[in-house]
Amino acid sequence: MRILVTGAAGFIGSHFVRHILAHHTDDEVLNLDALTYAGNLANLADLPEEQARRYRFVKGDVTDDALVAQLVDQAEAVVHFAAQTHVDRSIDDPQAFMRTNLWGAQTLLEAARRAWSGRQDRRLVLVSTDEVYGALELDDPRRFDEDWPLAPRSPYSASKAAADHLALAYYHTYGLPVMITRSCNNYGPNQFPEKLIPLMILNALAGRELPLYGDGRHVRDWIHVSDNCRAHDLVLRGGAPGRVYNVGADSQRSNLEVVRLVLALVAERAGRPPQEMMGLIKHVNDRPGHDRRYALDTSRLVQELGFAPRVNFKDGLADTIGWYVDNPEWCRAVTSGAYREYYQKMYDGR
Ligand code: TYD
Repeated sequence: MRILVTGAAGFIGSHFVRHILAHHTDDEVLNLDALTYAGNLANLADLPEEQARRYRFVKGDVTDDALVAQLVDQAEAVVHFAAQTHVDRSIDDPQAFMRTNLWGAQTLLEAARRAWSGRQDRRLVLVSTDEVYGALELDDPRRFDEDWPLAPRSPYSASKAAADHLALAYYHTYGLPVMITRSCNNYGPNQFPEKLIPLMILNALAGRELPLYGDGRHVRDWIHVSDNCRAHDLVLRGGAPGRVYNVGADSQRSNLEVVRLVLALVAERAGRPPQEMMGLIKHVNDRPGHDRRYALDTSRLVQELGFAPRVNFKDGLADTIGWYVDNPEWCRAVTSGAYREYYQKMYDGR
């Protein structure tokens, strides 16, 4: 299968490409990536030679009609990861999120409709997020299933929900074979350190403060990126057109719990008593409109596509910390210049 993967220089996209090339030796991958701040070709620089032969990179924007049409025409499947993904940035610059997340999805869907003209052996996987469901309260035991009404509350999640609606509209109206995935929070190697886990790991390793928003009791549901990639592969090959699949590993934790575990694991590596490091946690002003809790019901993915997560949170986190320790060059490159400005703007005096 020839697969167009958008945003494959980013965190999840690059892991997905590695997964596909390693596990499907007949597949070819075309990576369309605009190389914005979170896109990084270093994430795919060391592919083994045999895999590199089946991989091609095209620099470009998912909203470029002509380019996208040309690439979709060559592809039998599309997996659409390219997105603006960081909630805090969406609060600062919502326009950029609408442009990439909404218009990017529309451009791809339209290109697929024209190129594939009704062919049902094609597939398009639109990668969405559990954040489109809105927020649960801490004392609400329910989880989001795929029929939960969409109630996004940040510019980021609103832009993703809009794309979901468009994709389903293309399915119902034109019969486009599109599947939607809504995954929970991902973590693992190569994640850009604006997100909670890599940001806290790098700060802990450097002995800097760990900025926890508000009371730190917000809950996120976590999945290791390798499990998420296996889930996306299952949806790509076995998912039903027009169907939505939640992707998660049933691992809900408060941010405070996550940050404490990061500190404990970093302390263990350094041979220091964990208590010494807990003082690095600093409660800072909360994110506006901060969603309290996410929790996903993933029974559809488990029952219909046979998904079972393999990485438990503590082991996955310890491995992830090990990756950041072992890759100082990667870390230095992504935390220079623009990142420092971002960090100052977001956190100084917060
Ligand atoms: P994040 O990684 O931005 O993912 P999302 O907002 O998409 O869930 O944040 C995860 C949680 O961590 C969220 O509740 C916000 C919180 N958080 C902090 O407390 N401090 C931080 O510096 C960051 C980046 C996030």
